[in-house]
Amino acid sequence: MIVRIDGTNQATDTLQQCIRDAMETHGKSAALHVRTSLAMTPEELSRLFNSLETDFGYEGGNTPRRQLSGAVVSATELPPEFPISAHNELSYGRTWPTRVYFGCENPPNSGGETYLVSGESLLSQLPKAIRLAFVEKNLVYMRTLHSGHGLGRSWQETYQTENANELSARLRSEGSDFSWHEDYLTVRQKGPAVLDDPTKNGSVWFNQAEQWHPSSLPLDVHEVLLETLGDERKFPQYAEFGDGTEIPNEWLEEIRSLALSLAEPVQWSAGDLLIFDNRVHLHGRYAFTGQRRVHAALAV
Ligand SMILES: [Fe+2]
Repeated sequence: MIVRIDGTNQATDTLQQCIRDAMETHGKSAALHVRTSLAMTPEELSRLFNSLETDFGYEGGNTPRRQLSGAVVSATELPPEFPISAHNELSYGRTWPTRVYFGCENPPNSGGETYLVSGESLLSQLPKAIRLAFVEKNLVYMRTLHSGHGLGRSWQETYQTENANELSARLRSEGSDFSWHEDYLTVRQKGPAVLDDPTKNGSVWFNQAEQWHPSSLPLDVHEVLLETLGDERKFPQYAEFGDGTEIPNEWLEEIRSLALSLAEPVQWSAGDLLIFDNRVHLHGRYAFTGQRRVHAALAV
């Protein structure tokens, strides 16, 4: 459930207090949609965010983003016609942000709602066989990152370094399996499928398997990649179960459609702020038209 708060005509400092009060009342894991009269520029969101949170950063992320101001990055640079499926931010990483802040400077003309999906509902409503397989096996996320020319992101861009030795040391310390090839790097990283619910007893869905799996790609993109690379496991991103077995396409389809059926959309107006716990909620975005400027910041 998203808590709607009217913070219009409030200055930044009273708004901060209003958000603190809401977290006190509804819990720090509550999803808050705050309507404000702020311009919600990256600078403004950064100020508000810094007064409430500590920056998590976005190193190792898989989606194209631009650093805008302080902790604030563009929500995503993916083209507007592509919807973004429900996911937990950086759930494929070694650590992940607790809360996500989205601030809307300019709403889209049509579509473009961000939507939240309860990780508890998604997990509990999945067919038992799917749920058990994910819970028991967990996941492996695989990346194939080129060295400057190729499909997807380069390793330099992904890990924000030009130094291969330094990156090797970092990947080793994180416990990732990796191997360097002539002009690309492959990384295999284990990740959870579920987490303990931080708000109560029980578990929540927490992963990005569906999004990393080749079955999430548009058919024409999938066809070109398969033709070029010859094997889905060589795609820039791939996900499989932790025991090395494939995740069935029809299971991923089931996860996708259940997530969409549980989606709670937030229709953006200029000045809006959306705050949610990344462990409790997945988020996604519908396709849109127009100049949508929604900025993001991730909290430790
Ligand atoms: Fe995201």
